[in-house]
Amino acid sequence: MPEPAAVSENLTTLSKHLAGHGIETGLASVLEAIALGCKSIGHRVRRARIEDVVGVAGGENVFGEIQQKLDILSDEVLLQCLRDTPAAGVYASEEQEGPIVLRPASDGGRFAILADPLDGSSNIDVAVSVGTIFSVLRNDRPDAESAESVLQPGRNQVAAGYVVYGSSMVLVLATGAGVDMYTLDPVLGDFVLVKAGIEVPAEKKIYSINEAYLNDFDDGLKAYLEFVHGAGYGARYIGSMVADVHRTLLKGGVFIYPATRKAPKGKLRLMYEGNPMGFVIERAGGAASAGATPILDVQPTEVHERTPVILGSRTEVEHVISRTHPAKT
Ligand code: AHG
Ligand code: MN
Ligand code: MN
Repeated sequence: MPEPAAVSENLTTLSKHLAGHGIETGLASVLEAIALGCKSIGHRVRRARIEDVVGVAGGENVFGEIQQKLDILSDEVLLQCLRDTPAAGVYASEEQEGPIVLRPASDGGRFAILADPLDGSSNIDVAVSVGTIFSVLRNDRPDAESAESVLQPGRNQVAAGYVVYGSSMVLVLATGAGVDMYTLDPVLGDFVLVKAGIEVPAEKKIYSINEAYLNDFDDGLKAYLEFVHGAGYGARYIGSMVADVHRTLLKGGVFIYPATRKAPKGKLRLMYEGNPMGFVIERAGGAASAGATPILDVQPTEVHERTPVILGSRTEVEHVISRTHPAKT
């Protein structure tokens, strides 16, 4: 009897992998809804020029930042996918004024989802990788206070991850079971598992920071840059957090968006950039610091607050923190 032909196709889809790793059905349904939304967003990003949805929308977000048309479109797609998901209780995002209560916990809305619907949006018009970043918390507050349930430290996340809309569409998902990577198979129309149990390399001579702000950096950070400039490091900076962090996760190194004199808490947002990326990197064995403390230990006071971000290989983060926060080491 001839051996059955080896199945050349990778058929471990996101849904199958989640079920196989004991992810509770409510959380799995939320993650599948986010993945569906990202497939739609990725499709619109690829067709942006054709559908003429590049460029600015004319409005501003809560930060007074000009919103790109795709920022708003991406936010609406995610919100629609989560509205249809019974386990989704609260939604908050970079593009929304405040958290939206979709359904109270008493009515099954057991999870709070925070998102940066489109990260790196200034890069869309020049076809550089952008992405969607998401964070999932338990909606653990009494119904009347559901909206407040998002103000939890990142350590409480039950899942977090991102999708990179790059040369392929890649989903990286961190749960209690570790960090797994999926690629969208355009033929199957599904995210298929391509690497399970990702670990950040312990060290790598790559640093990623926008040195245009050098004059605003504190002396410790300037000392770090002097160190790397003389120690054979390579510099990489794409300007989309999702792409810079994805490279750091797979290759190692350190990604830094620091506090500066002009921006004492940095630019990146804690709840839907720092926390989800910090969760992914820590779950993969790396480090994610806000400077004086790990990002995941910061107690948020408002949904749009900012945080400094120094994350990546443990050794490389240590090289930064030992100079910027010597008392901490
Ligand atoms: P967003 O597009 O969601 O506003 O995020 C942009 C962020 C992040 O993607 C990136 O790391 C950072 O902006 C780049 O900022 P600079 O241009 O100041 O380096
Ligand atoms: Mn962003
Ligand atoms: Mn954004």
